[in-house]
Amino acid sequence: MTQQQFDFCDEAESSHWHPSAHIQEIPEGRGLSCEVAGTRLALFFLNGQLEILEGRCPHANAPLGRGWIEGDQVICPLHRWKFDIRTGQCLTNPQKSVRHFPGRVDENGIIWVDLSEAETLSGSKGSDPPHDFDNPSDN
Ligand code: FES
Repeated sequence: MTQQQFDFCDEAESSHWHPSAHIQEIPEGRGLSCEVAGTRLALFFLNGQLEILEGRCPHANAPLGRGWIEGDQVICPLHRWKFDIRTGQCLTNPQKSVRHFPGRVDENGIIWVDLSEAETLSGSKGSDPPHDFDNPSDN
């Protein structure tokens, strides 16, 4: 990494900004599940806008980044709870929303996420449960 590549790197290192993925890793019309600094995330581009959610479904820990996008919502791949991608609001159970994190893309296509509020996300830590989330009929 050069100084020129990441203009906000000094700010990032002094705060809670972390590199998460490259924009080309997010499939068209889908999300991306990844883990950054021990926190599971779900990354999306919705109408050209980067959206980053806490990636562990509060129902039974499925990776929301591997869900299906319908309009402004992501559908959990395990039991189909619905979440607003723009806010993290759970539309199936409003008491079980997920966090929405600030993010930005640098000039090299690297997606950075601000995890300054992630310290309280005990439910986002750990690995995914074993399951074939790529098969919609496997629920
Ligand atoms: S794990 Fe997401 S709805 Fe059950």
